[in-house]
Amino acid sequence: MDAKEKELYLAIIVAIVLFSIIIIYFVTSLILYQRRFIALQKERINAEINTLENERRRVASELHDGIGPLISSVKLYINSLDVGEDDTEIVHKAGTYIDDIMQNIRQISNNLMPNTLVRKGLDAAIKEFVDKADNQNGIKISYSCEIPELSINKDMEINVFRIVQEIINNTIKHSGASKLIIKLTQQEKMLLLQTSDNGKGFDFESMKNKDVSKEGGLGLKNLESRVDVLGGQLFHQSSPNKGVAFIFEIPINHSTNN
Ligand SMILES: Nc1ncnc2c1ncn2[C@@H]1O[C@H](COP(=O)(O)OP(=O)(O)OP(=O)(O)O)[C@@H](O)[C@H]1O
Ligand SMILES: [Mg+2]
Repeated sequence: MDAKEKELYLAIIVAIVLFSIIIIYFVTSLILYQRRFIALQKERINAEINTLENERRRVASELHDGIGPLISSVKLYINSLDVGEDDTEIVHKAGTYIDDIMQNIRQISNNLMPNTLVRKGLDAAIKEFVDKADNQNGIKISYSCEIPELSINKDMEINVFRIVQEIINNTIKHSGASKLIIKLTQQEKMLLLQTSDNGKGFDFESMKNKDVSKEGGLGLKNLESRVDVLGGQLFHQSSPNKGVAFIFEIPINHSTNN
């Protein structure tokens, strides 16, 4: 090999090394950019869900603690009116309407942020919701919690509760099922939420990706966002007329501020 050939080989090797470095740099930047993009997206979804739940909590307590007592005062004033016999019936009717308004306000406030969830925790709140929803549209809902002492943080409780709420509402609205089974268990550091219905079934991916502005809903998308916020995983299985089954695997020590 003469000097010129050596130089040529050297130049080729240097070119290959430089080219490889550029490719590696390019691929690494792309991977880092993608990771950053996914992390930012998660942060955004996390913030949106937190804002939504905080807003629900705020409106629920404004209704319950702000407007509730005001309406009670109105009722007290009306009852203390010194009216003649002709107007007694009117005052009585006004009192009944005020009671209805109070009842509705309590209901709306409780739907926004269930009191039982705040005071007694996830298991009690799911039981209460299941009791109310049971037998609607002829669907028998059975719920069991096989965790002796369920201890998870409030944010996690709210997210798991919203997931259960959405599954129950969807089963009632869309499935045509006669039964829905909901089970909460724990496997080491994982909370497992398993649900199954015996309805008509559906294709999760195609339903989830339907445009919200047309016929699509938000429920399935929100299920995924909440599981993401919880750092968990969602598995689903469905076939025509064999119903749908979900498994949510959620790490118990995950912080929703991640
Ligand atoms: N358990 C189920 N059985 C059969 N079909 C279902 C079930 N759950 C959801 N679906 C189908 O998936 C679609 C999308 O559900 P999704 O919860 O996203 O929207 P929605 O319930 O229609 O509206 P939203 O949840 O926003 O009030 C439903 O319209 C329904 O066709
Ligand atoms: Mg829905």
